[in-house]
Amino acid sequence: MTINATVKEAGFRPASRISSIGVSEILKIGARASAMKREGKPVIILGAGEPDFDTPDHVKEAASQAIRRGETKYTALDGTPELKQAIREKFQRENGIAYELDEVTVATGAKQILFNAMAATVDPGNEVIIPTPYWTSYSDIVQICEGKPVLIACDASSGFRLTAEKLEAAITPRTRWVLLNSPSNPSGAAYGAADYRPLLDVLLKHPHVWLLVDDMYEHIVYDDFDFVTPAQLEPRLKERTLTVNGVSKAYAMTGWRIGYAGGPRELIKAMAVVQSQATSCPSSVSQAASVAALTGPQEFLKERRQSFQRRRDLVVAGLNAIEGLDCRVPEGAFYTFSGCKGMLGRVTPVGKRIETDADFCAYLLEDAHVAVVPGTAFGLSPFFRISYATSEGELKEALTRIAAACARLA
Ligand SMILES: Cc1ncc(COP(=O)(O)O)c(C=O)c1O
Repeated sequence: MTINATVKEAGFRPASRISSIGVSEILKIGARASAMKREGKPVIILGAGEPDFDTPDHVKEAASQAIRRGETKYTALDGTPELKQAIREKFQRENGIAYELDEVTVATGAKQILFNAMAATVDPGNEVIIPTPYWTSYSDIVQICEGKPVLIACDASSGFRLTAEKLEAAITPRTRWVLLNSPSNPSGAAYGAADYRPLLDVLLKHPHVWLLVDDMYEHIVYDDFDFVTPAQLEPRLKERTLTVNGVSKAYAMTGWRIGYAGGPRELIKAMAVVQSQATSCPSSVSQAASVAALTGPQEFLKERRQSFQRRRDLVVAGLNAIEGLDCRVPEGAFYTFSGCKGMLGRVTPVGKRIETDADFCAYLLEDAHVAVVPGTAFGLSPFFRISYATSEGELKEALTRIAAACARLA
């Protein structure tokens, strides 16, 4: 037997549950942008999904104190009693939702919360309704759990929001969940009470469908937008709603890896079973830090929100000043999701025709040295996402370069 044949037989073969999941467009662009930077090119990366602020000092101090107190061991499976209590109070204070301690769960990031929820409930072939554009992990997590993502296109004409008609049409006897995210990554669109109402009315008619709402960007909303969440708006749905949140974006704690959720006791218990065999518990030190984040001063959130809003206004105005781009004003998060239909069919200075949003983003990277993410990565084209969680100086420079690159298209 040749060495090659041996290698082939012993070679790596991924499980079918991950075979349809490719490396995300975001990672590919990030890798190309980083390689260009290493070559000395002045690349501006507008792809990051994290605030450019630092974790607040009082949160860091709480973590140091926890280490000094010796809180460095495994904790209770799905959250320390202190953190669960802080989360209960947060839900009551900010959302008017009363959860008991055993209706609250903590995980290693909201991403693990989503994974626990899907792994605990989705059987092969179960359908999960996901409006697009969506945060890429939603459909990948559903697929890893052998469920079937049912993607519903929600374009700019509906404010990137799901409508009651589309939801009703998508529900089948196999539907397990609907996943909603407000404010949204990538569109920044948010659902107010009036936007949610018709959707909740549809769900009331279909008791087998559960609702997962991802409120990760709750604290990053603009122009007096009134943040609401379904379990607060419709108590009759509370018994089949999982309200997901976390400290990553609001408190600039992406690296601490703490996410949490409130939901029905039986679901929370089943999610803990998954977690018990995945990570045993979230990091003890990060949990202590998160208690400080949720119970400590909250005033700085307003300042950070105002800073993001200035940058949103700068980017939206800059993009809409470019002929061929069309950017809706987002209600929240720190992303713009701009239409680039007007750029399709144009030709770059080196004679390449732009056919897709991915082509347009590749051109911006090569020509303007600005890295942005095509809508295709989020399931809706032709659009591109900019993360404006970077300095105003960099954003201005990036907009100038994008405008110049667009002007060079024939
Ligand atoms: C909409 C949304 N939900 C959840 C997450 C994950 O957050 P965490 O850092 O808590 O895993 C992200 C991160 O980008 C996100 O954009």
